[in-house]
Amino acid sequence: MISKQTIDKIFSTIRVEEIIGEYVQLKRAGSNFKGLSPFHEEKTASFVVSPSKQIWKDFSSGKGGTAISFLMEIENFTYPEALRHAAKKYGIEIEENLQEQTEEQKASQTERDMLYKIHEVANHFHQEQLFETEEGKNIGLAYFKERELRDSIIRKFQLGYSPEKKNAFTEYAVEKGYSREILESSGLSIFPDNAPGGIDRFRERVVFPIHSFSGRVLGFGARVLKNNIKTAKYLNSPETEIYHKSAVLYGLNHSKQAISKNNLCLLVEGYMDVIALHQSGIENVVSSSGTSLTTEQIKLIKRLTENVTILFDGDAAGIKASFRSIDMLLSEGMNIRVLLFPDGDDPDSFARKHPQEYVENYIKTEANDFINFKSEILLKEAGSDSIKKAEAIRDIVKSVAFVSNALKQEVYLKEISTKFGLSEQSLSNELGVQKQVTQHIYKAESPKPQPKLELVEETALTVNPLLVLEEKLVELMLKYGDQILARKNEEGETYEITVIEEIMAHLDEDGYEILSPVNVKIVKEISDGIAQNELRSGKFFFSLMDEELTGTVANALFEQYENSDWGKHNIFFSREDEVVPKLVKDVMIRHKREYVVKMITEIKNSLQDDTDNTDNYMKIVKLNELRKEMDAEVYRIL
Ligand code: UTP
Ligand code: MN
Repeated sequence: MISKQTIDKIFSTIRVEEIIGEYVQLKRAGSNFKGLSPFHEEKTASFVVSPSKQIWKDFSSGKGGTAISFLMEIENFTYPEALRHAAKKYGIEIEENLQEQTEEQKASQTERDMLYKIHEVANHFHQEQLFETEEGKNIGLAYFKERELRDSIIRKFQLGYSPEKKNAFTEYAVEKGYSREILESSGLSIFPDNAPGGIDRFRERVVFPIHSFSGRVLGFGARVLKNNIKTAKYLNSPETEIYHKSAVLYGLNHSKQAISKNNLCLLVEGYMDVIALHQSGIENVVSSSGTSLTTEQIKLIKRLTENVTILFDGDAAGIKASFRSIDMLLSEGMNIRVLLFPDGDDPDSFARKHPQEYVENYIKTEANDFINFKSEILLKEAGSDSIKKAEAIRDIVKSVAFVSNALKQEVYLKEISTKFGLSEQSLSNELGVQKQVTQHIYKAESPKPQPKLELVEETALTVNPLLVLEEKLVELMLKYGDQILARKNEEGETYEITVIEEIMAHLDEDGYEILSPVNVKIVKEISDGIAQNELRSGKFFFSLMDEELTGTVANALFEQYENSDWGKHNIFFSREDEVVPKLVKDVMIRHKREYVVKMITEIKNSLQDDTDNTDNYMKIVKLNELRKEMDAEVYRIL
């Protein structure tokens, strides 16, 4: 854990315009900077950076936040990764909060650190062997040249060579002071009884380092040099504390930007496929290398795009692998296309045979949607056998059953219905059956995808005025929390109160239930702050380890009055901060009014035909009076 002090230091040192300036061309526009959104293709600049508030907002996508959240978006860093990256740029030393860790956590932290280190050492060793030794050049480098890789791509992917000598690396690492334990647990060395000096796992092979999302070496894949040898073609690192095969995609660190830029991820089978495509200029490509595609891997892709094109070899194994991957991808809500290369070709050989433009075009035009793809293959198999044909259609409908979005399901069923001249009704019946079957299939590895949170919130926002006003109250506390309001009490005496205090008092008074989870968090922090005599607004929230909060707060701070949606709620004024006193009062009253309306509705709904409802009617009358009073008051304010 990075210490709170370090986080504060980072936030007070870094400059949002400098960090973003490395990715976006920014031009001054008044007190702000403007540029083209790095997240969308656009012609007019809608990306704004505020140096005074130290935040950014992308008006084309609605995203916004701090310099740290920008790094998270663009580099796909986690929060701590982004903090570390920024700290490094500004030469800030990271102080870890070790006392909060248990002994066990500390031990596993050092174990992980050691594993990262030893992989770095090994990676360096393999590259040095490849480029600097006679054996490496003659055997390893010659092999890569034979596969038509250029030096620049070999260096980009940090390819290496592990020599013939049984324990070349192990010896090297031990000399550097690495223990047998760490060598063993990293999987880089094996220590059998008859070889006390250890044996390198990857000896006499060319080596492909496998990187994490942010570029750390987690493990290796290593290929034999002769094709006829009776051993596995590729050896891979075993599972370790830092390498979880199922959660890593080969090439992602080099491809992430191209994937989000193209809004498409190409999925291939092997290391060489990724590298060859990169060499030919196609960089939005990853491979699940050696494991069959997992839900975790799909989720990694989904952070960048929802569109995947599967590129597989045209052999039977490739086709089978693609069937399973199709269903996995569909159940994660991805849009997919599938491309089989002509028999005998894989993406690697194909990319080397043809120029970039041809390959790109081929992928674009030849990739099929999954229905056409599956039917082509399955129907060819079925020939004129009608039982097999029905079986094939059932298999296609099975894939549709994995689609979680009902609308998409319907579109797919329509397509199948037209394609085979079958009624939608019978397909729909079949879908029902298949759904029952498929429900259980990927359950173990993937919990049923939850409906998207943003969507839920969005609809809630349009239908629930109480929530809209709650958002406004929180926004006011974040933006103007420490502003002092001059108010009059019932006796006509003036008193002073801060925006935070007034709104918190309002929320307390009527015991409102805060509706949105983010607001619950924010209100809790503010109220903890009050208990400690501290006004927590705006920037206070940036240093909390909470991405969700950071985004919400930055958005609230950025809303310029001309961009804000106050108008939608019939609130108009000259300049937002000039009218804060009115605004706060107004929103509180509207909030209360909506609450009263909600109570009236609830009582009305509880009325029963066969009982005496007098009490309830009395309540409704009273509440209605209250509501009218508040309507009048709102009218007076503005
Ligand atoms: P392929 O056999 O299709 O190899 O395996 P390839 O990528 O085309 O390799 P080259 O072109 O012969 O060098 C596809 C992927 O499956 C994994 C590797 O990740 C490989 O890239 N694999 C294959 C293994 O892990 N072990 C093996 O023995 C074979
Ligand atoms: Mn190949």
